[in-house]
Amino acid sequence: MKVVVIGGTGRIGRRLVRKLDQLGATAIAAAPSRGVDALTGAGVAEALAGAEILVDVSNAPSLDGATALQYFEAAGRNLLDAGREAGIRNHIVLSIVGVDRLLDQHYFQAKKRQEELVRASGVPFTILRSTQFFEFIAAVVQDGTEGEIPISPALAQPIAAADVAETLAELALGEAAGQTLELAGPERFRLDDVATEIATAFEDGRRIVADVHARYFGAELQETSLLPGPNARIGSLRFEDWLRDCLKVQSCAEQAGPGPSVEHPGGIPTHPQAASPMLPTK
Ligand SMILES: NC(=O)c1ccc[n+]([C@@H]2O[C@H](COP(=O)([O-])OP(=O)(O)OC[C@H]3O[C@@H](n4cnc5c(N)ncnc54)[C@H](OP(=O)(O)O)[C@@H]3O)[C@@H](O)[C@H]2O)c1
Repeated sequence: MKVVVIGGTGRIGRRLVRKLDQLGATAIAAAPSRGVDALTGAGVAEALAGAEILVDVSNAPSLDGATALQYFEAAGRNLLDAGREAGIRNHIVLSIVGVDRLLDQHYFQAKKRQEELVRASGVPFTILRSTQFFEFIAAVVQDGTEGEIPISPALAQPIAAADVAETLAELALGEAAGQTLELAGPERFRLDDVATEIATAFEDGRRIVADVHARYFGAELQETSLLPGPNARIGSLRFEDWLRDCLKVQSCAEQAGPGPSVEHPGGIPTHPQAASPMLPTK
């Protein structure tokens, strides 16, 4: 079975491609760096030829609201049109738990728009909303240039990227759910406590400061904004075990999100031009 992973070179995408390969599917990593651009549509039809399943784990080139909205609107339409043409029988999208509660911010409006396009398309679909990836929180901590990093103390149930990829692989090999599912990690924490654990583990001198006004993708969080509902699927990797594993390789962060990334000589990725998604907006 051919599965096309749009964003197949990203944090979730490359894990998903690997997992699908292990499970015997023919997984294609589609991304601009591989000649497939969902925003312009270039290369999309060619990539989807003969495919049964499309998984969209791509991201906008910038977290900026207008750019993100433009990306998810245009890419969403291009992928759905091409998927319909190719006879895709499950169009899977990775979204964010709590997206409905954070709509005063543009990035979440953009993700909501991506979901709406899929629901209205008539194409068989599955929407998976995930909580924050451990790797994403680590990236925010390790990309921080200040000695003190303000992080919201909102409750969170973060998850390992490996668990997200595993769930997406399972969905890709099943039938279209025609509904929105949720996925979360096995434990509940305060976001700033997770960040503190990561900063402490790497002993890199940064200090996490709990700040209820610290922004998450531009949104000020309420206590429960990021929590999943009672029916969420639950990943298996506990934070402590994930942290122990990534300490062995000296970095847990990988990419912080959209924007150019350069590898720090010490192995910690930095994003000189990307605003941190969890820092207060000035
Ligand atoms: N961060 C979180 O905690 C979190 C939680 C829940 C859901 N999500 C969602 O999960 C998704 C994936 O996140 P991620 O962290 O894995 O993203 P990521 O690491 O930033 O990867 C983004 C991927 O999108 C590709 N891409 C960029 N522009 C594209 C275009 N025009 N056409 C096709 N592909 C394009 C990139 O390709 P190149 O390698 O060629 O640049 C890359 O493969 C996002 O939609 C995000 O909203 C994130």
